[in-house]
Amino acid sequence: MASEVIRMVLMGPPGAGKGTQARMLAEDLRVAVVSTGDILRDEVRQATALGKSAKAFMDKGALVPDELVVAMVRNRLGRDDCQRGFVLDGFPRTVEQAQALDAMLEERGEAIGLCISISVPETELVRRLSGRRTCRACGWMCHLLFEPPAKDGVCDRCGGELYQRNDDREEVIKERLGVYQRETAPVLSYYASRGLLREIDGRGSREGVFASIKAELANRRGG
Ligand code: AP5
Repeated sequence: MASEVIRMVLMGPPGAGKGTQARMLAEDLRVAVVSTGDILRDEVRQATALGKSAKAFMDKGALVPDELVVAMVRNRLGRDDCQRGFVLDGFPRTVEQAQALDAMLEERGEAIGLCISISVPETELVRRLSGRRTCRACGWMCHLLFEPPAKDGVCDRCGGELYQRNDDREEVIKERLGVYQRETAPVLSYYASRGLLREIDGRGSREGVFASIKAELANRRGG
């Protein structure tokens, strides 16, 4: 696996576990993770022009306009660490973004090799997101009920401050789930029609979901 170039997309509704699995894959495959949500939250934190434009959309659970996100991804995929492959987390989220991604990769003689969609029932998504807490310093995630931190508000890994994302409030979660159905679900058909889509049940443990994704990667290599 180490020598193979992987260019894959991880899809799924908010809370499906894309970020969790993307990090596990990056460690295992030693490829770059490009998480548009993480990049945008960083831009917001640093109050850049992009961050200032994106914040209002993110806080209400809407998508940031395609042209901003596509330019950001183009820039990110041009960096050295993506030359050995990458895992995309949270992008593309509209059919227009998927088409722009294909066009930018084609210019480089590259293409997406696999799209994994992680499915989780809506009640479970709401439960996962409303209890999620994230470390400001290292990005570690925990859950107030399922895996509470040893000390309230403090990251188990690095001692950093745990916070609740602005968009993890219940009313915003509902909006994000609606946006997923309306704007992002059509991207699944886009990849299915190209024979690239594989669906994974995201209800098991992190390790179980990871094993399913690895099995799809192995099938793809064999196929
Ligand atoms: P983004 O950051 O991409 O958020 P999202 O897609 O809503 O996904 P989440 O990060 O909430 O969930 P996840 O699937 O990664 O799950 P996680 O692993 O964290 O986007 C945020 C915003 O940015 C968007 O709303 C939009 O405004 C903007 N944006 C981003 N990309 C954009 C784009 N391309 N175009 C336009 N706008 C864009 O897990 C969730 C929780 O569940 C955690 O607590 C975790 O510990 C737990 N968990 C994970 N796996 C399991 C498991 N197997 N069992 C139990 N718990 C689990």
